[in-house]
Amino acid sequence: MYKQILRPLLFKFDPELIHEITVEWLSRAGKLSPVLALLKKIYGNRTADLPVEVMGIQFPAPVGLAAGLDKDARCISALSSFGFGHLELGTVTPKPQPGNPLPRLFRIPEYQAIINRMGFNSGGIHPFLENVASTRKTVPLGINLGKNAVTPIEQAADDYISGLRQLYLYADYFAINISSPNTKNLRDLQSDDALDDLLEQIMRTRDELAAEFKRKVPVAVKIAPDVENNNIPSLAGLLIRHQVDGVIATNTTIDHSAVTGSKHADETGGLSGKPLKDRANEVTALLFHELKGRVPIIGVGGIFTADDAWQRLVAGAEMLQIYTGFIYNGPGAVADIVNGLAKRVADSGENTLSGAVIKARLENR
Ligand SMILES: Cc1cc2nc3c(=O)[nH]c(=O)nc-3n(C[C@H](O)[C@H](O)[C@H](O)COP(=O)(O)O)c2cc1C
Repeated sequence: MYKQILRPLLFKFDPELIHEITVEWLSRAGKLSPVLALLKKIYGNRTADLPVEVMGIQFPAPVGLAAGLDKDARCISALSSFGFGHLELGTVTPKPQPGNPLPRLFRIPEYQAIINRMGFNSGGIHPFLENVASTRKTVPLGINLGKNAVTPIEQAADDYISGLRQLYLYADYFAINISSPNTKNLRDLQSDDALDDLLEQIMRTRDELAAEFKRKVPVAVKIAPDVENNNIPSLAGLLIRHQVDGVIATNTTIDHSAVTGSKHADETGGLSGKPLKDRANEVTALLFHELKGRVPIIGVGGIFTADDAWQRLVAGAEMLQIYTGFIYNGPGAVADIVNGLAKRVADSGENTLSGAVIKARLENR
């Protein structure tokens, strides 16, 4: 129904307008129990039971929603009813900011891709906090933190620390976003010296907060697919040395060569969706080679089907997220992917997804 009726209709209109309308609708639907029950019946209840444990958290399913769709944490209830195993909310910045001028969101349907240069548009931490605090959550929530555009890059750590402190009570895990291509100089934080310093400050703050609140909230770092292959070993070394709890690979790519010739190929911004899949797989495999399970990888980028998902898990991911696949295939994509993975588990003769994945990795060696 989504692909045949709703998507053709939605795709006739401006992408950001449709995004706004959808978020508003989901936010309202979340306050109406009969609508929530219906969404759960159509989508959530169709999703197989396939729990995974990652970063010490029990997730009911291995596929979550990637950051960027619910930047202000307005749609937690409705999105949870779609069968996602977790929701990553944000990116939220300490202060509100409008993001980049419009237009800044472009669909490339012939490649099942999107280019965006949103630039961390959000209402800031204050309304975000009110929204998470007033919603009863049913799946683990990740909170993706960013820095304000006006904060000098040398002071970026202050913004992340402000996010950690103010939202500590509401996060099941934090994602430190140093990989969006749409905030000037942000990705410079991935260089060795900058990352070393940033992680030192972030992990120290997290440990202080853990002692204060007697609960350790895991911290994951979200990286770009555009990191050079030969920088991955040192990046992985820093994640291990600072005892970061997870790594999310990957954000969108500034390499638009895969969509050359399409109408929006030359728009500035990050490319997501199908054309990102191979590079995200490659980065996952290279990271896994270095990390060897010491820091779990959350795989994201171009995952549309259960086969894509399985491939990413075998490459080294322990859990997955989708964004563009959700836009192109609708809420049913979650159950399709999770159920396809459940079938792989059953066929493998193992009892758990991680058991089936480890077996497949060994067989592939
Ligand atoms: C419109 C749009 C907005 C996004 N905003 C964010 C964001 O605020 N923070 C973030 O970490 N990633 C953001 N992303 C990146 C996604 O979380 C994801 O890493 C990327 O799109 C690759 O996954 P996909 O191919 O399944 O979309 C955004 C992606 C899109 C398409």
